[in-house]
Amino acid sequence: MKILVTGGAGFIGSHTVVELHQAGFEPIIIDNFSNSEEKVLTRLESIIGKPTVCYKADCNDEATLRSIFKKEQLDGVIHFAASKAVGESVEKPLMYYQNNIGSTLLLLKIMQEFGVKNFVFSSSCTVYGQPDFLPVTEETPRQEAASPYGNTKRICEDIIRDVVTSKAELKAISLRYFNPIGAHESAEIGELPRGVPSNLVPYITQAATGLREKLTIFGNDYNTVDGTCIRDFIHVVDLAKAHVKALKLLATIEGDTYYDVFNVGTGEGVTILRLIETFEKVNNVKLNYSIGPRRAGDIEQIYAQVDKSQQVMGWSAEKTLEDSLRDAWRWQQRLAEGNTKEAV
Ligand code: WQD
Repeated sequence: MKILVTGGAGFIGSHTVVELHQAGFEPIIIDNFSNSEEKVLTRLESIIGKPTVCYKADCNDEATLRSIFKKEQLDGVIHFAASKAVGESVEKPLMYYQNNIGSTLLLLKIMQEFGVKNFVFSSSCTVYGQPDFLPVTEETPRQEAASPYGNTKRICEDIIRDVVTSKAELKAISLRYFNPIGAHESAEIGELPRGVPSNLVPYITQAATGLREKLTIFGNDYNTVDGTCIRDFIHVVDLAKAHVKALKLLATIEGDTYYDVFNVGTGEGVTILRLIETFEKVNNVKLNYSIGPRRAGDIEQIYAQVDKSQQVMGWSAEKTLEDSLRDAWRWQQRLAEGNTKEAV
C-alpha cells in the first residue's frame, strides 16, 4: 500500500517512514522542509537500504498536491505536516490556523476527488487541556485549548469527524500523542529543534553537552509528588509504530466510513525531576539545572489511559523511559560529532 506521509522528514514523520517500510508499506514523503532538514532523506536511506520518494512541497499548495495524487495512486495519507510550537502559535495565530487547518481541509478535499479513503491524523493530548481526572481516556471531555496550536488540533479532529459523518467515503483515525521523546536506535534520525528548544528533552540533551548553560525547570510548586509537572513521555519509535497499527486497523474496516480517536502514550506519568534523575543515571552524566518560575500555558499534569489502543489497535508502548533517554542522548552525541564533521 502506497501511503502519503506529509511532514515525513520531520521528527515523528521520519521515524514513521522507517516503520512503514519495515511493515511492507510504500511511504511517499511530502515535506516543505520548513522545520526539517533534507539530509534526513539520506539518513533514512541508510536505515532502510533504499531511497524514499520525496516531494519538496507545501501541503497548502493545491496544484502540487493534486499532481502528486494524480501520479502516485495513493492508498492512504498520514498527516503530520503542521506548525507545532505552542508559544509561537500564540504570537502567530493566523499562520497556525492557515497552515494546520488549511492543509487538512485541502488534503481531505483532494482525497475525496481521487478516491483515497484512509486517513491518519496527528493529533495531540493538548486537546484535553488540564483534565479534571487522570489518567485521561479517549472519552475524557476535550477542553478549550490553551493555545492556537492546541486549538488547530481540536478543530481538525472535528473537521475529520464531520466529513466522516457526512457519509463521504473516508475512514479516519486521530492519534492523540502524549510527549514524544527519544530517537531511532541507529542515531541516524532524531529530533532536530531549530534554535533554542522549547521542548524538555532536547533542551536537556543540549544542556548535557554544554550547548546550553543549564536547564531551567519551569516551576516546582505544582500539586505533585515533587512539585514539578507530570507528563507521559513516549518513545518516538513506539509512537511511529502506532501509525502502522492505525493503517492496518483501517484496512480491516468494512465499508467506506469510520472514525475513531486513540491515546498514544505509555500510560505512566513522570515528573520532570524524575525524568532528569533518570537521564543522569542511564547516561552517567550530571545535568546542570535550576528551578525557575512556571511557564505560561503549562498544565500541571497529564498522562494517558491506553487500554483502547491495546484492545482495538493491538498497540502498546514497548520502550521504557530509560530507553528513550538513552536513545535521546546517543542522538545528541551523534549531532555533536556531526557539528564537527558536517553541517546539521
Ligand atoms: C514538558 C514539561 C514544561 C522545557 C508540548 C505540546 C504537545 C507536543 C509536545 C508537539 C512541561 C517542562 C520544558 C524546559 C521545563 N507538541 N519544561 N523546562 O508543553 O508538555 O507539550 O510539546 O508535538 O502537543 O503541548 O512539552 O517538552 O515543552 O514541556 O521545565 O526547558 O517540561 O514546563 O512541564 P509540553 P514540553
